[in-house]
Amino acid sequence: MTCCRVCGTKIEAFMSFGAMPIANGFLSPDEIGGEYFFELAPAFCDGCGMFQLIDQPAPEKMFHENYAFYSSTSRHMQTHFKDFAGMVIQRVFAGRTDPFVVELGSNDGIMLRNFKEAGYLHLGVEPSSNVADVAREQGIRTISEFFNLELAKKIVAEHGHADAVLSANVMCHIPDINGVAAGIAYLLKKDGVLMFEDPYLGSMIEKTSYDQIYDEHVFIFSGTSVGAAFGRHGLELIDLLPQTTHGGSMRYVLAPKGSHPISPNVSMILEKERAQGLHQPETYAAFKANCEQSRSDLVGLLRSLKEQGKRVVGYAATSKSTTVTNYCGIGPDLIEYISDTTPIKQGKLTPGTHIPVKPYETFQEKMPDYALLFAWNHAVEIFEKEQIFKAKGGKWITFVPQVGIVE
Ligand code: TYD
Ligand code: ZN
Repeated sequence: MTCCRVCGTKIEAFMSFGAMPIANGFLSPDEIGGEYFFELAPAFCDGCGMFQLIDQPAPEKMFHENYAFYSSTSRHMQTHFKDFAGMVIQRVFAGRTDPFVVELGSNDGIMLRNFKEAGYLHLGVEPSSNVADVAREQGIRTISEFFNLELAKKIVAEHGHADAVLSANVMCHIPDINGVAAGIAYLLKKDGVLMFEDPYLGSMIEKTSYDQIYDEHVFIFSGTSVGAAFGRHGLELIDLLPQTTHGGSMRYVLAPKGSHPISPNVSMILEKERAQGLHQPETYAAFKANCEQSRSDLVGLLRSLKEQGKRVVGYAATSKSTTVTNYCGIGPDLIEYISDTTPIKQGKLTPGTHIPVKPYETFQEKMPDYALLFAWNHAVEIFEKEQIFKAKGGKWITFVPQVGIVE
């Protein structure tokens, strides 16, 4: 029997994406045969509304000294985190002396850099040491550990309580959410603020963006489930701010109960989630049917292009593309290579499906007829950058919200 990680209610998978490798487990050809697989199967908890994976690989298998995700590869994300930091400075730091900010999962320092440059006391907690090193090299204070209550106590003993605790695309990675919430509740000042953002369940259901479901994302949050999970640790939602990043995210703003006024956004969004049926099993049955349709449409399109002798490549070897290629059974027979700007991924093969990952220059030099946009969440930035591809007659294929050729 599997139980909800938040409230202990019995949960069952409503669908399975099949055997999945580690989403960022890019491998060299000599590592074929030794890959780790687990069953990627999501469930929805009737008790507290938390959407979660039944099984998740051990954190050490995903976040280590060779972690392949560097946050600063997207220019738009750099602007996004500058704005996020600006909001914290304006909304939380105003009127406070020597405010202290802690970020959980600070990666290469994409957000903390802004606090460092403005001279604020800051601390990043980042278990993947290779990305943490990049931050440290820029003078951003970072420790390479997993966050929990014990670490929170150590941080408080050394630096005092925090005015703000932040995280982006990290909270949904942490299976022991109760341990983390207890740590944050301890770490925050009585009037401190927790702000974090992650891909949003409402957007995923609306767009059938099932590629948000992969090993690292043990949870896909909603306002309802975050309110319930952190409510157990004395924190309450004081605001909910929808974001366009990662194809639809939510920024959750929480504080110790009763310490801050509550924005009308909170009840508005919670009501919207009810109206969308995020609490109903029928919603997930429909989502499953939509995923199956998306898979058959995408595979059908790729096969037909292949039959027409077209060259198709993938654009950006994202974490989420691992779910798409493995669930749909898309290998090098349908996609020649995937181009990606991250050096650590280049020359490797995609997890499970073994499509070669090539440097971005390969895409520029040998432009294909079609490019399947795995980084559909960065479409605006990428279309802007790739005007030559379009001018040469190249076409984009997308699969969110529907499979199709972008006109
Ligand atoms: P992202 O959607 O942030 O990834 P994930 O699904 O892993 O959260 O995309 C990051 C990846 O996309 C990273 O491997 C770099 C690659 N990428 C490119 O190759 N070119 C680009 O223009 C962009 C924006 C990303
Ligand atoms: Zn639950």
